[in-house]
Amino acid sequence: MGKLKDYLPGIGLGALVFASLFGFALSNTAHAQARRLNVVCSVQIEWCELVRNEYQRVSGVRMTMIHRSSIEALAMLLAERNNPRTDVWFGGTGDPHLQAAERGLTLEYRSPILDDLQPWAQAQARRAGYRTVGLYSGVLGFAFRPDQLKRIGAEPPRCWRDLLAEPFRQQVMMGNPTSSGTGYMIISALTQLFGEEAGNDYLKRLHKNVAQYTHGGRGSIENIVRGEGSVAIGFMHDAIAARERGADLEFESPCEGTVAEIGSLSLIAGAANLDEAKRFYEWALSAEAQTLARKVGAFQYPSNKHVAPEARILDPSQTLLTPYDHRRFGSSQIRKRLLSRWINEINVPQND
Ligand code: F6P
Repeated sequence: MGKLKDYLPGIGLGALVFASLFGFALSNTAHAQARRLNVVCSVQIEWCELVRNEYQRVSGVRMTMIHRSSIEALAMLLAERNNPRTDVWFGGTGDPHLQAAERGLTLEYRSPILDDLQPWAQAQARRAGYRTVGLYSGVLGFAFRPDQLKRIGAEPPRCWRDLLAEPFRQQVMMGNPTSSGTGYMIISALTQLFGEEAGNDYLKRLHKNVAQYTHGGRGSIENIVRGEGSVAIGFMHDAIAARERGADLEFESPCEGTVAEIGSLSLIAGAANLDEAKRFYEWALSAEAQTLARKVGAFQYPSNKHVAPEARILDPSQTLLTPYDHRRFGSSQIRKRLLSRWINEINVPQND
């Protein structure tokens, strides 16, 4: 396993190591100042900022980073496809990365350290024709505040069906599937678990209990922390992070089963700063870079096999996971169908 200094140009020895690894010569400061990289980041804002600060510090690259929810990032890349202004897409749920790959928005690239990645991360790369790769994994579940549940007279939800109970009326939060990768994954998980029709029926009934479809997935959990509802459907690592910050929050993996995301990393086709983009991509896959995430409470399960274990990180293989058909839910055609059903049949006034 290489050390961080092996990947990145610093001053002196670091620069030489980096040059020999990547055929890159950091000749002077003026050159370093000219180096640029544009990243769209779909993980927690704290992790995005850490990545930018850390990578700028160790590489000397000037990095522009914008934060977008997964579906928004995909929409942005589609909009700029004829004149890409983005070099790398860092994180966000795997489905939109696969949709981007299918539409030729991302670039085929095989990392030399692919073998250091977990099998599910490599599988994500293979199914995208190497136009993306797994960066982390996270499990979908429920997060709730026990004090709020007491107040509304509800039992802690253990199963998907529990969320349909009367006391949860206007108490549930989840990501809006038209903007949030988490939201899309909730409807695709229900389709995977129960079939399309039964999943849709469930969503119709659930809609009555939904207080808000949040723009991004993590927002639903943050709303529960603030007491704006009682239960959120979201990624458990976001609930663990909130608990670490002191929130009185519990989480549960649904009894009927659940699914895990493969948060992904993609190079953008036509990237103006391709060499820089590749160097950043390699850094992002390294064990050292992935270990940093936990410093800011990003407790996703890392894709690099050499990252040391950490008690606060849930191992997805230890939860009741239903195999998720990434290929199916990562296709533009299925996405279009599930989203148009959600817009026309679920999120409509007659279901309120
Ligand atoms: O908050 C981090 C995270 O939960 C990631 O694990 C996930 O890939 C991403 O958010 C999804 O965000 P959104 O639902 O806003 O697209």
